[in-house]
Amino acid sequence: MLSNEIREKFLRFFEKRGHRVVPSASLVPTDDPSVLFTTAGMQQFKSHFIGLRNAKDDFGSLNLTSSQKCVRTSDIEEVGDKSHLTFFEMLGNFSFDGYWKKEAIEYAYDLITKEIDLKIDYVSVFGGEGNVPEDTESAEIWRSIDPEITIKKFGRSDNFWGPTGEEGPCGPTTEIYIDGIEIWNIVFNEYYQSQDKTLIPLKTKGVDTGMGLERLVKVVQKTETVFETDLFLPIVQVANSRIVADHIRTSCFMITDGITPSNTGRGYVLRRLLRRAYVKNKEINPIIDAIVNHPSYLGLYAFTPNTKEVVALELEKFQKTLDAGLKRIGKGEDPFILFTSYGLPLEIIEEVTSVDKEKFERQMAEHKEKSGVWKE
Ligand code: GLY
Repeated sequence: MLSNEIREKFLRFFEKRGHRVVPSASLVPTDDPSVLFTTAGMQQFKSHFIGLRNAKDDFGSLNLTSSQKCVRTSDIEEVGDKSHLTFFEMLGNFSFDGYWKKEAIEYAYDLITKEIDLKIDYVSVFGGEGNVPEDTESAEIWRSIDPEITIKKFGRSDNFWGPTGEEGPCGPTTEIYIDGIEIWNIVFNEYYQSQDKTLIPLKTKGVDTGMGLERLVKVVQKTETVFETDLFLPIVQVANSRIVADHIRTSCFMITDGITPSNTGRGYVLRRLLRRAYVKNKEINPIIDAIVNHPSYLGLYAFTPNTKEVVALELEKFQKTLDAGLKRIGKGEDPFILFTSYGLPLEIIEEVTSVDKEKFERQMAEHKEKSGVWKE
């Protein structure tokens, strides 16, 4: 099954079960100034979960489903391994007091084991922590569906999700694991976490689920990593690198959603992704072609026609900075200054001069703290 068929299967499964299919929101969140990027499918529905807006009025249904474009940069150092990416599509089903745990778990089980025919390794449920009780109800539901299923219990760091940004809806989760990776996160939004981290019970409960399309495609297509799936293979083949394929793909989606390279916020993240990719592979245009013409995106995401121009303009400037920075290396400039002011990637700096890694990392940590750019 190809990636676009898997995406379709997910959306149609929920459509047939009374969910309205909602298009992906922009990567730039419109009503949550505390986050740089859309990081989850639920983000466009934050105010629906807390009762400020009504899903029936806005979308014609209390039950919704979507494939949401997401960017998460917190795992950037892991990109290139089996499953971490800076951009991914999040498949999700959502309910705003329409249904609750039984239906949510049964839907997930049926879709995974019957429609897609995958075998679940194990599931996890919230084991209780602080003043949030153990989720015995979810464990009961799993056992009634499949008495043989392995159920693990974890605490807040594993089985409690949200909020996105500084405050918002959140709650205990039940998660499905296949082939050693977490595939599907089913969140029971029962609380509102305020800025001081207090949990306040929500008036209406909600279901919010998230399943990364790329990971799902990996387990369906039984590939070693996400990069051999039909979603990535044509891109990796021209990029000659997993990291370059990932970073240029993320950049194309960011540019399409109106982000341009700059020295702050979202623009800075885009700039760093482009530069990181460029030092590994200077032939960016064929990679952009492979992305914008990808069969899984055609008819779904219309990439902005000036993507190549935005990238070329940025990388021409960067090439000049690179030339200037490389000259500074010879003059003994501090690697941190070369990195932040000249935009020289660490890989390049290390090739030509010795870098005191500990000092550099200390300086970087202070810099990140001050600018907040790599936070979500
Ligand atoms: N909102 C659930 C997730 O992102 O996993």
